[in-house]
Amino acid sequence: MRPTQAPYPAGRPRRLRRTEPLRALVRETHLTPGDLIWPLFVRDGTRVREEVPSMPGVVRRSVDGIVEAAEEARDLGIPAICLFPYTDPALKTEGCEEAWNPDNLANRAIRAVKAAVPEVAVMTDIALDPYNALGHDGIVRDGVIVNDETVDALVKMALAQAEAGADILGPSDMMDGRIGAMRRALEAAGHTDVAILSYAAKYASAFYGPFRDAVGASGALKGDKKTYQMDPANSDEAIRLIERDLAEGADMVMIKPGLAYLDICRRVKDAFGAPTYAYQVSGEYAMLKAAAANGWVDGAAVMMESLMAFKRSGCDGILTYFAPDAARRLRAG
Ligand code: PBG
Repeated sequence: MRPTQAPYPAGRPRRLRRTEPLRALVRETHLTPGDLIWPLFVRDGTRVREEVPSMPGVVRRSVDGIVEAAEEARDLGIPAICLFPYTDPALKTEGCEEAWNPDNLANRAIRAVKAAVPEVAVMTDIALDPYNALGHDGIVRDGVIVNDETVDALVKMALAQAEAGADILGPSDMMDGRIGAMRRALEAAGHTDVAILSYAAKYASAFYGPFRDAVGASGALKGDKKTYQMDPANSDEAIRLIERDLAEGADMVMIKPGLAYLDICRRVKDAFGAPTYAYQVSGEYAMLKAAAANGWVDGAAVMMESLMAFKRSGCDGILTYFAPDAARRLRAG
């Protein structure tokens, strides 16, 4: 039902846009630091800080720097960080065994953050690509990404991350049946309180390019990910996948990428009312940064406007490389 609107001139919608206090009173959507999840790239070493060329302002940090970033998140009111490892190429194999090594880089970073900054939630990434000599999110046999064998590997990875103290597991692999398999294994192992934020509607997108540079996966990857990630043309399929992952035991769901898929965010929120997140991915970040660096757009303004768009489309929160900058602006008022 639509609210009654007086016709012009009795109705003049500009009355409520006249001043900032009036605009604040009728604002429908709000963005706070509490809506943000900050993705961070981890690498080996100590006191290492390495720029990612295709993502200006984003760095790979050694574990000590990740702990400092977690402290920064806490101080800025950002509730969660999400860790992505840059794995030494020498540790990448076709069997991806490093993925479930309890002492791999990601698991060491989880432990360090939970020991030093327990008040910040740690989210992880579950997929084999950082550990795979062939660059895919799943195990490759004769050129095919095999589903069920990959799910077995992902379950081992999930258990190792839960054991290390992760609060939220983020399966980003797009295999079938992985949420149910992980949930059963977590329950059986006594990890009853570990949350799963499923990358449920993840599209085979060209917007992930800079991320693959950041985690060192670009060189390894042969071909594309279209046999497991979604076709950008599809919308009903996203609804089916989200419904399935919730039914299998996901606590929260994600749509990825973000800005080009806000229609999916709205449909998902309306259909399920579940905690819904979008990932403003590396290519989106890189585009806004590049345009701002050229002076073609106001960088801070487009950052805040793009993040508000996610909230308006029904998202409860956003994974974004802008998290600390946006939180600082929000706190400054
Ligand atoms: C890997 C993964 C990707 C991203 C998050 N996890 C890349 C991919 O699927 O190739 C992309 C994030 C980004 O672009 O910012 N499973």
